[in-house]
Amino acid sequence: MLPSCLRAPASLQTSFRWSRTLWTRSLAKPSLFNSSSAASRFKTNFSSSSVSRSAIRAAANSNALSIDKRFFSTNQQAESPDGLPILPPKSVGMWLMASSTLVFAIIVVGGITRLTESGLSITEWKPVTGILPPLSQAQWEEEFEKYKATPEFKLLNHSFQLEDFKHIFYMEWNHRILGRLIGVVFVGPLVYFAVKKRISKSLAVRLGGLALLIGAQGGLGWYMVKSGLDDSLMETPGAVPRVSQYRLAAHLGLALLLYAGMFSQGLAIIKDWKYATGAKNWMGLTTLAFTKALQSPAVVRFKARSLGLTALVFLTALSGAFVAGLDAGLMYNEFPFMGGRLTPPRDELMSAAYARLPDGSDKWWRNIFENPTTVQFDHRVLAMATYLGTALLFFRARGMRAVLPPVTRTAVTAAFAVVNLQLLLGITTLLHLVPVPLAAAHQAGSVMVLSAMLHVILTLRHPGAAAKAWRAMHMQRLNGGSKASAAKSTLK
Ligand code: HEM
Repeated sequence: MLPSCLRAPASLQTSFRWSRTLWTRSLAKPSLFNSSSAASRFKTNFSSSSVSRSAIRAAANSNALSIDKRFFSTNQQAESPDGLPILPPKSVGMWLMASSTLVFAIIVVGGITRLTESGLSITEWKPVTGILPPLSQAQWEEEFEKYKATPEFKLLNHSFQLEDFKHIFYMEWNHRILGRLIGVVFVGPLVYFAVKKRISKSLAVRLGGLALLIGAQGGLGWYMVKSGLDDSLMETPGAVPRVSQYRLAAHLGLALLLYAGMFSQGLAIIKDWKYATGAKNWMGLTTLAFTKALQSPAVVRFKARSLGLTALVFLTALSGAFVAGLDAGLMYNEFPFMGGRLTPPRDELMSAAYARLPDGSDKWWRNIFENPTTVQFDHRVLAMATYLGTALLFFRARGMRAVLPPVTRTAVTAAFAVVNLQLLLGITTLLHLVPVPLAAAHQAGSVMVLSAMLHVILTLRHPGAAAKAWRAMHMQRLNGGSKASAAKSTLK
């Protein structure tokens, strides 16, 4: 028993107990709402109170609580049996965050696979039977024979023994196993949540789209590997057996898109959940102040800049894939200069040697995507633009203390810190001629920069319509059931 000076007044204790009961019964286990017995239990509670559903819907749909129609928003059409829109439980958000963490991991493993030149060791794509590695000596010998027929073995690794081969084989095998695991971890719970109606139809369709993209990513990965196994490499003088930089960039780009989709949707669901369960303040402000802040033209501009910067981070990462694909990090190992000047000579950046058409009209784009000098230069320019953009956003956020939500300011500071680290990693990777640990850390850094920017955007997002409706109901119950308090409480 606590001494009386440390005990809350009796009235507060009662209200805390009451709100905890409500929390536990109705909101901490949202899945209950979607089962019919729980729905009817809720229905009874709901109709016994004086508030009408239309009041709650009106509160959720009022201008001040306008529905965010962007990708990150959820629950616009679907309705749970009790008449309120389906609110995905926190577990859905946690599952999406766990899936995005696995995608993060496979991006890093994929980078290490490429950096250790292991990616071309498995010469076939067998989605089901390929789950098992060779198990007997005879199977290993057979697998090694297939590798011996590849340009990579003939041109680069002809001194390889079976033990060396096993090493690179397992690296690529781990990468493919992780890919399959992501498919299972994503699709299994998705089917469960959809069948149990824990997620709205529109969310199920969006997540189904991500599931299809996971499948497409497997196919794209194999399409990329095939480009490095092509026998024509043997006939091209000076050709290096490696995958096409275009396909590598597409593979990394799709991985980043999958990551961004899972991460943003997962975080949005968790945030919505907090909002629905009556979190007192929102992004460090009262919900009314937050709604007002989001209407401020300065914040609207800030949000648009954050979106633009996120697109720039994505573009910079794609250009990094071209650097990696062409081994362009093995030249001009100095910074900020390239050959003692800020920019390499023009005829080297736009060399006629890269044109394939007789009139040379493809010179521009071929240099941009196929000339290692230009590719490295472009990556530097895009990286510096990303860095400057983030620095400007950081200083702008400091100047917007009065209007920007505190959580947004913290998120921007985190993004600036991560982009500083990424710049440092990029430069050290270049100066040290692309050692595996640094280059892998640089690849991981690009995902962290992307996450940090997505987080900034999510701190400036209106809660979804379902979260608003559930919060209105929750607050109305807490405030004793008056219609006015239900509507008002979602605004404060
Ligand atoms: C915001 C800034 C940056 C981002 C988002 C970024 C992103 C990336 C990404 C995604 C890759 C591909 C890695 C792979 O596919 O394995 C890459 C490669 C690379 N980046 Fe950056 N980068 C940034 C800044 C820099 C800077 C400033 C430098 C140095 C001047 C740099 C140098 C390199 C090099 C040398 C590679 C090739 C590494 C390899 O072969 O694996 N990066 N970058």
